[in-house]
Amino acid sequence: MGKIFNKIVYFRTLNSTNDYLINLYKKHLVKNNFIIVSKYQKKGRGRIGKMWFSDSNSVTFSFSIQLTKDLSAWQINMAVSLALNRVLKGFCVQSLIKYPNDIIVKSQKIAGILTEVISVKKTKWCIVGVGVNVNNMRFPVEIPHAVSMKQILLKSINQNTVFDNFFSELESLLIQKRNLQKNYLLDLYGGGEFVACLYKGNFVNVKILSVSNDGLLKISTKDSSIKIVKDEDVKFVLS
Ligand code: BTN
Repeated sequence: MGKIFNKIVYFRTLNSTNDYLINLYKKHLVKNNFIIVSKYQKKGRGRIGKMWFSDSNSVTFSFSIQLTKDLSAWQINMAVSLALNRVLKGFCVQSLIKYPNDIIVKSQKIAGILTEVISVKKTKWCIVGVGVNVNNMRFPVEIPHAVSMKQILLKSINQNTVFDNFFSELESLLIQKRNLQKNYLLDLYGGGEFVACLYKGNFVNVKILSVSNDGLLKISTKDSSIKIVKDEDVKFVLS
């Protein structure tokens, strides 16, 4: 293990690695930054109550990081997104970050991030769950926009390498923290060009101008009107 995480525990099957980790904190069984890995999840969760499909060909894990005045949940979310993008680029998969928590290749999703914050006594913990489609060759019909590394590269990928590379990228991003926002914007879908977006129920073309340390986006529409929006206000629509 590197400098940030104290312990890693492997399971064959869990309902959800996020739920398992949250329970450990709620029961006061852990006090440090922790990683939980599971080969299978029976009830993997995505954002906003969605389910997350994974099987033994995916890489699924959760980890915790203590929040401090110098490290917000959104900064961790940016670092996780960048780390995933770097890992994928290392395998020659050209991915982008779709705000706020998807990693996409063209119009398909290759990885997802679930960031949750819990308070235990006076300490706040950020619980981050990551699911990466690595060697999956088919997805359920109800998930038509998913893709795996194997489907793109047409070869099997070592799942342990994906996991190890992710944590080495994440640790270096969190230790440096320099240029997090700038680099996040560079890797962001809509960061350099106008893209379609559902804004408060209406379709508009927007360009993302900047992102704040607490996750607010500054967007510009084609008629140059500028808005500051949060994740529930916008949904970027893939063509
Ligand atoms: C999303 O795209 O909405 C987020 C998906 C996050 C999935 C991961 S898999 C490991 C961890 N455990 C869960 O139950 N969810 C996250």
